[in-house]
Amino acid sequence: MMTKIYPRTGDMHTVYLNVVVKDPSIEVGDYTIYNDFVSDPRLFERNNVLYHYPVHHERLVIGKFCSIACGTKFLFNCANHTLKSLSTYTFPLFYEEWGGEKAEVAMAWDNKGDIVIGNDVWIGYEAVIMAGVCIGDGAIIGTRAVVTKDVPPYTIVGGVPARPIKKRFNEDTIRKLT
Ligand SMILES: CC(C)(COP(=O)(O)OP(=O)(O)OC[C@H]1O[C@@H](n2cnc3c(N)ncnc32)[C@H](O)[C@@H]1OP(=O)(O)O)[C@@H](O)C(=O)NCCC(=O)NCCS
Repeated sequence: MMTKIYPRTGDMHTVYLNVVVKDPSIEVGDYTIYNDFVSDPRLFERNNVLYHYPVHHERLVIGKFCSIACGTKFLFNCANHTLKSLSTYTFPLFYEEWGGEKAEVAMAWDNKGDIVIGNDVWIGYEAVIMAGVCIGDGAIIGTRAVVTKDVPPYTIVGGVPARPIKKRFNEDTIRKLT
């Protein structure tokens, strides 16, 4: 098990993420780094994993050797006010006020599932990864992309919503790598 926080002497902006993450619903592989020059990178769980409340039991899984740039956000299911109701207001959350049941709190949001990031994924500055998205090994997420759909392995995506820009290698090489 890794215990060293900082990969580089004197650089307090970059951390090995699996050493600083404590939430058991967040799993990070060895050597994956997070860099943050605005906030303390050790506060990744608080500053970067958002709307991640226990109600949906969803997981953030990140592979090994990923590079996650400053300001990347993982937006979980409690950001998704339900679209299945006549109103987007979170009535089920305020069940005491509106005569609902505590057991119905989860109905306030649509649950799109876990976020799963493969190995050797590079996520650019201030990218946003939405709930339910899987990003394949070796993919690259461009600066400020908003990723709403799965990204195939070794594919570079960018934009809002993120669309494929190109593949990193030819199909034969990608097949050998995956
Ligand atoms: C996505 C990225 C890797 C592409 O690099 P590249 O292959 O050299 O890309 P190019 O500059 O040749 O651009 C290729 C196309 O992608 C577009 N593009 C590049 N970056 C983009 C981005 N972040 N969002 C949307 N489109 C982007 C370009 O406009 C260009 O479009 P066109 O083919 O229609 O002209 C790079 O632009 C990027 O965003 N890197 C992340 C940098 C970063 O945030 N680093 C944080 C510190 S680690």
